[in-house]
Amino acid sequence: MSLFSPNSLSLGKSVSLSQKEFNDLSGFIYSLAGIEIPRQRQYLLENRLRSRLNELSLKSFSEYYQYLLHGPDRKREVEIFCEKMTTNETSFFRDPRQLDVFRDSVLVPLLSRLKETGRKQLHIWSAGCSSGEEPYTLSIMIHELLKVSIIGWRIRITANDISSAMIQKARKGLYNEHSLRNTPKDIIARYFSKEPGGYLVHPKIKKNIVFERINLNDAGAVKRIPKSQVAFCRNVIIYFDLPMKKKVVNFFYDNLVQGGHLVLGHSESLHSVSSIFQPIRKPGGILYRRMD
Ligand SMILES: C[S@@+](CC[C@H](N)C(=O)[O-])C[C@H]1O[C@@H](n2cnc3c(N)ncnc32)[C@H](O)[C@@H]1O
Repeated sequence: MSLFSPNSLSLGKSVSLSQKEFNDLSGFIYSLAGIEIPRQRQYLLENRLRSRLNELSLKSFSEYYQYLLHGPDRKREVEIFCEKMTTNETSFFRDPRQLDVFRDSVLVPLLSRLKETGRKQLHIWSAGCSSGEEPYTLSIMIHELLKVSIIGWRIRITANDISSAMIQKARKGLYNEHSLRNTPKDIIARYFSKEPGGYLVHPKIKKNIVFERINLNDAGAVKRIPKSQVAFCRNVIIYFDLPMKKKVVNFFYDNLVQGGHLVLGHSESLHSVSSIFQPIRKPGGILYRRMD
């Protein structure tokens, strides 16, 4: 029997990671996605991978590591591993106070400037979009501001995530009530239809968004993203170590147009990461402006 052929072993909760196994697996996710798993959070690796070991009937984490490196469907397994190692928590209108600040101090002035100059083109990049709630929220906010005049605009939101499962879910656009817990009822009524499986995003909200699986650690893929006036990267760099944070922040700098804005999660900051963005501090949160 080959090392990787299924057998009937079930590993239960007994298997734990050795130091070497931890180093191998945490090193693998780090070199792949820039995600840092500190030793004190070893339980994350154990808990999230144990079921996968059982599914594959592998006896130890070192067998799983070998499976990742040399298994029969290595590419797919790397994707599954990546999905297990990421935290995908998100919701519509997450951190509403920060979104209000973004709308009032960035989006509204930007839309009126573009309108005045007759260049009605807006591109927003939502990096680490998880299952799509963030880019859909941005699309709804833009519709709420432009209303019927949106017809004369070219709006595009590029939304990406490293997890193929999340991108698939995002493309579907079907959500449960928990995802919509921060969403005002009138917004739900205007932009969703109630379906047997949940709430389906209206096609007019979807049509501005291009979902794509992209790893922020992949410079080539990131460089192909069109220039943006705004980049959202909320609750993503929190999982990266300092060199990866710096790398990603430089990608945003290169992608944004002059004076473009970067929006991080409300608990994230560029303090001691980078000084190429100017912080704009408002009562509801901090936004960053590309310094030219
Ligand atoms: C906590 S979610 C944040 C979702 C959304 N931005 C929000 O604030 O609600 C973090 C997302 O970042 C993605 N992510 C982590 N590392 C990534 C990488 N290297 N490239 C692209 N996406 C990544 C994860 O897959 C996950 O879906």
